[in-house]
This record gives sequence, structure tokens and C-alpha cells, in this order.
Amino acid sequence: MPPQKIIIDTDPGIDDSMAIFFALSSPELEVIGLTTVFGNVHVDLAATNALRLLEIAGRTDIPVAKGAANSLVGDYDNPPAHIHGDDGQGNVHLPPPAGKPIDQTSAQFIVEQVMSNPGEITLVPIGPLTNIALALRLEPRIAQNVKQVVLMGGNALVPGNSTPAAEANIKDDPEAADVVFGAGWPLTMVGLDVTTKAVVTDEQLQSYARSSSPMAQHIARICPFYLDFSRRVNGNAVGGLLVHDSTAVAYLLVPDAFTVKSWPVRVETQGMSRGKTWPMVRPNTRATYWHNRPNVNVCVDIDSARTIALEFSRVAP
Ligand code: BDR
Ligand code: CA
Repeated sequence: MPPQKIIIDTDPGIDDSMAIFFALSSPELEVIGLTTVFGNVHVDLAATNALRLLEIAGRTDIPVAKGAANSLVGDYDNPPAHIHGDDGQGNVHLPPPAGKPIDQTSAQFIVEQVMSNPGEITLVPIGPLTNIALALRLEPRIAQNVKQVVLMGGNALVPGNSTPAAEANIKDDPEAADVVFGAGWPLTMVGLDVTTKAVVTDEQLQSYARSSSPMAQHIARICPFYLDFSRRVNGNAVGGLLVHDSTAVAYLLVPDAFTVKSWPVRVETQGMSRGKTWPMVRPNTRATYWHNRPNVNVCVDIDSARTIALEFSRVAP
């Protein structure tokens, strides 16, 4: 089987870095581009970090595109430096990259790649969904020409993490997310229902430090900052570090490690629940909000021991 061609749409980001390295280390996947978006950092820094990560991985052949700086409806001024560091990389302050982003925007790159490789490209958004909504706006036929979309974001049956209602990626652009969930393409939501079960322990992190791989070494450098944040917020309740974004990559590799439901999903855009993903969990003829909405796959459970072990075996062999 030829490798599955993927475009990772990302806001790197500590767990984004882990996901990118996981994908680059997996022979079943061919990363054909990194498209960047605001989120964990402003978009200029997201593109810079993507270039830096590819240099660490020795994969400067992979193009990086710079995309949306703001959500569809508002300015973005709130990067979570307390979670990912001022530099998005745990304040390790990497040197500037040698390369630069391509001239195309993230949305233009996605459209060009999907339309010139019909049925072949999988989109893996692991940040706010703005670039993906902009790509749909630019060329709606990508919905029929993509292979699938596997995104990290949302919360179906569990609370949010950015607010009590909403997960961070969806909260950062709910209008874009509602477009993406409604586009009628094969879509899988890898949200907090499963990513909050994907915990990497201290001991496992130490094994990254022992690996000679530059990717594993980088992860070992940036993760302590993220772990400190997690401990400040959760105490020892979580027992380690949540690898949200890597879990979307794991879905591509071992989908049978996930329990999946097929539901239509709407995204709340108003009030205190702004950014909440609402699946219609029971057929209900009075549920007008979901009228004519396509079903998507929603991951509700995971064999996380298996997905985490797989990530280790790839990134820190
Ligand atoms: C998501 O938000 C970001 O902080 C992470 O990188 C991940 O994509 C988790 O809610
Ligand atoms: Ca992310």
C-alpha cells in the first residue's frame, strides 16, 4: 500500500510538535505539507515553528504555508503562552529557521493539492479550523475531492478545556468549525472524549530524553513546560501530559483502537457555550438545528495504551 498523503494544518504548539514528529516517523503516512494557522501562537510564529520542526526532523523538503492570522469573525489576541510558552515551544527559544514559507496561503495550498490529487489527500487539522473553512470557501469542490478529514478538536460527551463548554481549537473559531462539520465530507472528530484519555507519564517522557533521535530530544526539551501547566491546573489527577494532537495521527494509523459513533454535529456560536460541539445523539424529528446536517464520525473511546505505545515506538525507537 502506498503511504497515505496528509496535510497537517497546525499551530505549533507543544502537542502539535509531537503530532508532526509522530506523522513524519510513520511510514504509512506521507506528509506533503504543513499549513499553519493562529492558535497556540500567532500565525507568523506558527509558520516559523513549523519550519524549525522540519529542520529538526531533517525534512526541509516539505513545504510550509502560512494561513489565517485571525478567526472568520474576529481578531486573535490571546495565544496561551502559559500552556505552550511565549515561543510555542516551551520557551526553549530555538534559533531562526533557514527556510521560509511558500508564497501560497494555507487555504490555497490545500485547494491546489486536493484538486490535483482527487481522492488522495487526507487533511489533519490540529488547530483552529479557519484555514479549512477558507479552503472550502475558495473551492467548495474540495469536499468531494478530499480523501478524508481527521481533526483534533471538540468535545461530544465531556466538558471543554478552554471553557467549561468548549475545546480550545473549536472555541478559537466556532463559525469556521460549524462550516467544516457541515461540509458533507468524510470527517472524523478526535476530540476531548478520547484525547483526555491519552496520557503520557513522566517515566515515558524520560524515555524520549534517552533516545538519540533529534525529534525525541526536542520533545524531551519542550514537554516539561507543558507538564508544569498540566500539573498546575489538574494537580496529579491526570497523571501526566495529554497528547491531544498526536491522537489524531494515531487515528490514521490504528483506527481500530477507537470507538466511533456516527452523528451530525453542530457548533454553538453564541453565549457562554460558544465553541461547544453538539452531536445529535438521538434521532429527534424536532431537532431543527441538525436538519439536513451530514453525519460525521465522533470518537468516543480509545485504547490509549496502544496509541501511546505506538507513538513511542515511532518517535523514540
Ligand atoms: C488543542 O488545543 C491546543 O492547545 C492543542 O495544541 C490542541 O490542538 C487541545 O484542546
Ligand atoms: Ca494544536
